[in-house]
Amino acid sequence: MENTGKYALITGASSGIGWHFTEALAQRDYSVVAVSNQPAQLDDLKKRLEKLYRIIVVTLNMDLTQENSAQKVFDYCKEKNLIVEVLINNAGIFFFGEAVTVDYSLGKSILGLHIITPAMLCRLFGEQMMKRQRGFILNVSSIAAVMPYPCISLYGPTKAFLRNFTRALRTEMKYHGINVTCLIPGPVDTELYDAGNFNKPLLRKLGIMKNPETVAHAGIRALFKNHAVCIPGLLNQFIILLLPVLPYFIINIIYRRNFFDREPKE
Ligand SMILES: NC(=O)c1ccc[n+]([C@@H]2O[C@H](COP(=O)([O-])OP(=O)(O)OC[C@H]3O[C@@H](n4cnc5c(N)ncnc54)[C@H](OP(=O)(O)O)[C@@H]3O)[C@@H](O)[C@H]2O)c1
Repeated sequence: MENTGKYALITGASSGIGWHFTEALAQRDYSVVAVSNQPAQLDDLKKRLEKLYRIIVVTLNMDLTQENSAQKVFDYCKEKNLIVEVLINNAGIFFFGEAVTVDYSLGKSILGLHIITPAMLCRLFGEQMMKRQRGFILNVSSIAAVMPYPCISLYGPTKAFLRNFTRALRTEMKYHGINVTCLIPGPVDTELYDAGNFNKPLLRKLGIMKNPETVAHAGIRALFKNHAVCIPGLLNQFIILLLPVLPYFIINIIYRRNFFDREPKE
């Protein structure tokens, strides 16, 4: 085991795309600070990566929905003298439901996890990167950011924040030698949501549903090549162009047919 002196910090590293981000960075000789709220999975990740690669894995069990979690993560790294060269804001949650009937604390959590914590992590680690004139920031948005949909009325707009914020941050950081990239995946085969009635094998066959390893590696390549945006999959790239020009009444019709058997109240 060798401390290469350069660290990548990945939020939501304990599963899915985050797990593969962490491994992709280990393959590039980065030691990692793996953050999530699942200590057992983080331990598994540490054991696996330290066995396979000559790096250090620091695990940090933290609920990133909490108000001061970005500051706590930053203070932890500062105290341990971990120089974070790569920041990946990946942690996320997903649920279906109307904005006004969703559990209050769950609604608040998604805002904290997708907006406040990633923006403040960029603020805190970005300033250090700026001083060093070197750094890499990858923020994970979603294809759901492209257009607002009912029943994911909190998820989509929080991901739209990440997309827009990342675009603006990229321009600011460009003059300080920092790469900033936004990853916009379509459906990915992880535990983020229950795919329920969706036919996963068919979605995979059509190239709509990607595996998390492919998505993570695409994101890391785009980050180091300094691309503004990474949308894994040709079909997803096409869908992202198509969605904004889709008339919104189509969404209204689909919503009404699936959820209500009546006309909206005037
Ligand atoms: N899967 C998709 O179809 C898809 C599509 C577009 C974008 N994305 C985005 O990709 C990112 C990764 O998602 P994924 O598909 O890899 O799902 P995932 O396997 O559920 O990974 C999400 C990660 O975030 C962590 N996390 C959740 N809540 C947290 C909290 N309060 N504090 C700290 N960590 C927390 C999770 O830990 P736990 O073990 O607690 O869950 C997990 O490690 C998310 O931002 C998601 O919105 C996913």
